[in-house]
Amino acid sequence: MKIALVGYGKMGREIEKIALSRGHEIVSIIDVDNEADFDSEAFKSAAVAIEFTSPHSALNNFRRCFAAGVPVVAGTTGWLEHLDEVKQACEKDGKTFFYASNFSLGVNIFFALNKYLAKIMNQYPDYEVKMEEVHHIHKLDAPSGTAITLAEGVLENIARKNSWKLETAESDSDLPIHCIRRGEVPGIHEIIYESEVDTISIKHDAKSRKGFALGAVVAAEFTAGKKGLLGMDDMLKF
Ligand SMILES: NC(=O)c1ccc[n+]([C@@H]2O[C@H](COP(=O)([O-])OP(=O)(O)OC[C@H]3O[C@@H](n4cnc5c(N)ncnc54)[C@H](O)[C@@H]3O)[C@@H](O)[C@H]2O)c1
Repeated sequence: MKIALVGYGKMGREIEKIALSRGHEIVSIIDVDNEADFDSEAFKSAAVAIEFTSPHSALNNFRRCFAAGVPVVAGTTGWLEHLDEVKQACEKDGKTFFYASNFSLGVNIFFALNKYLAKIMNQYPDYEVKMEEVHHIHKLDAPSGTAITLAEGVLENIARKNSWKLETAESDSDLPIHCIRRGEVPGIHEIIYESEVDTISIKHDAKSRKGFALGAVVAAEFTAGKKGLLGMDDMLKF
């Protein structure tokens, strides 16, 4: 399959290696110095573009992929305030867009476990819940996209919690998320339930970026030839 890469940083390079090892062809690589290549025939020939750039540039990149008629698999986090525009492009203009706050299979298993645990904990108000996430010092957004998805899984299932808050809870109905930026950590997420008598916690610790990159390439294989707004739930069907 012909794949275009938008963003050739840590993730773009890891995705290139995995895509080649799975027999795909990289027809175009776009980064800050060659944005004109969105209009190139090579870019337009791609079956899918995989986008891992930065929160500020993501939306414009999606628009340029849509204009070139190339479906997008998006991994960039921190742009979700623009989700409605992307949804509209899919629903009204027939564009194709796959987004995951985290492409790793392990994290998506963890998302399901988080929801299941939250459903149980809904019945036990003696437990207070909080989250901790740790990432490398280069990360631009906080909390991480993965932490936001985990928080949504808790809020959907625990009636006594209504919203997440960065760092400190302002009321009993808040879920606090503590963000730590340290060294080159690829990503650690922990959800902690604490009562007077004990602590229950579940934790995902990524050993490298390989799991994210593999998931993004598998998502690109899934997305090619499909229409609409897609996500990990459509692909994994747990
Ligand atoms: N969804 C996931 O599974 C997942 C996993 C890891 C990282 N991420 C996210 O992916 C994004 C990228 O992560 P990274 O570690 O590769 O970052 P990085 O800083 O190593 O690479 C980003 C690249 O994007 C390029 N870029 C910036 N603006 C651009 C533009 N307008 N057009 C084209 N290229 C542009 C930069 O020059 C750089 O090469 C971040 O938002 C990160 O949070 C998501």
